[in-house]
Amino acid sequence: MAIKHVGIVGCGQMGAGIAEVCARAGYTVVVSEVDEALLKRGLASIESSLARAVSRGKMAEADKAMTLKRVSGVIGLEGFRDCDLVIEVVVENMAEKKKVFATLDGVCRKDAILASNTSCLSVTEMAVATGRPDKVLGIHFFNPAPVMKPVELVRTILTGAETLATAREFAQSLGKSVVVSPDTPGFIVNRLLTPYLLDAVRLMDSGTASREDIDQAVTLGLNHPMGPLALAGLIGLDTLYSIASALYEEFKDPRYVAPPLLRRMVLARWLGRKTGKGFYDYPKDKA
Ligand code: 3HC
Repeated sequence: MAIKHVGIVGCGQMGAGIAEVCARAGYTVVVSEVDEALLKRGLASIESSLARAVSRGKMAEADKAMTLKRVSGVIGLEGFRDCDLVIEVVVENMAEKKKVFATLDGVCRKDAILASNTSCLSVTEMAVATGRPDKVLGIHFFNPAPVMKPVELVRTILTGAETLATAREFAQSLGKSVVVSPDTPGFIVNRLLTPYLLDAVRLMDSGTASREDIDQAVTLGLNHPMGPLALAGLIGLDTLYSIASALYEEFKDPRYVAPPLLRRMVLARWLGRKTGKGFYDYPKDKA
């Protein structure tokens, strides 16, 4: 099946980024949110990201207008009836995700593919909440979605070969490079990334080194674009915490235990860029 119409459930940081990528590649995109305020904020963030591309000379004003025309917003999931592919990008909570998948299964055409952008949760568990587990897979984008090249396609033991092939073609049409992972906690990247980020928090919290020295050491010493504490702030400390918790839940390996400081920062809503405070302050991002 050729994908033409894409649905995105959730228009937060990742949902908006994925919607932008799809619209820029020529797909018509419907994004949904739970209320008008969140929808308005999500659509505004797509617009401001495109405006940034225009101001940097990466996109013509006319292309921005055409891209925005391809994006529409709805409240709830009823607006996904005509979608060929729907990507779920809601909070990392299995009960929520299963509810979304069960509802989408009732709303969407029988041949539509249902995907999750989950960072770590079991795609199989979402698939079995539907009557079409062969048409369910993970399509995991990286943050910021418009910039980051890879997409992890998560193939469960129930995902059909045709579903995987269609998703691969779709991801490549977005200009992404595809890697395929089985449905294992954290897939490939987050399985490797999480203990590293948690160790950076432990290193700082133990007083071994300052946040600046940790980040600078990694940026310069390993040639990474940003250090681990800055990266945690980009991803979101709540997201990191939920990935760590999900990995620990499945593996019971102490490498995945979230440091107490991380949990307390999440409780305090020091989530990084999205709330304006994390290991660093982000006054502009908050505004
Ligand atoms: N949305 C859209 N575009 C963005 C952006 C955003 N949020 N942030 C940056 N950009 C674009 C800029 O417009 C610019 O584009 P241009 O080169 O075409 O003009 C380009 O990215 C570079 O941006 P900047 O010059 O402003 O800043 P940097 O050079 O410092 O790059 C960065 C910013 C791209 C975020 C870079 O620091 C980076 O790659 N960091 C590492 C990101 C990373 O590792 N992401 C993966 C996280 S793990 C994950 O997502 C998995 C999940 O499950 C948790």
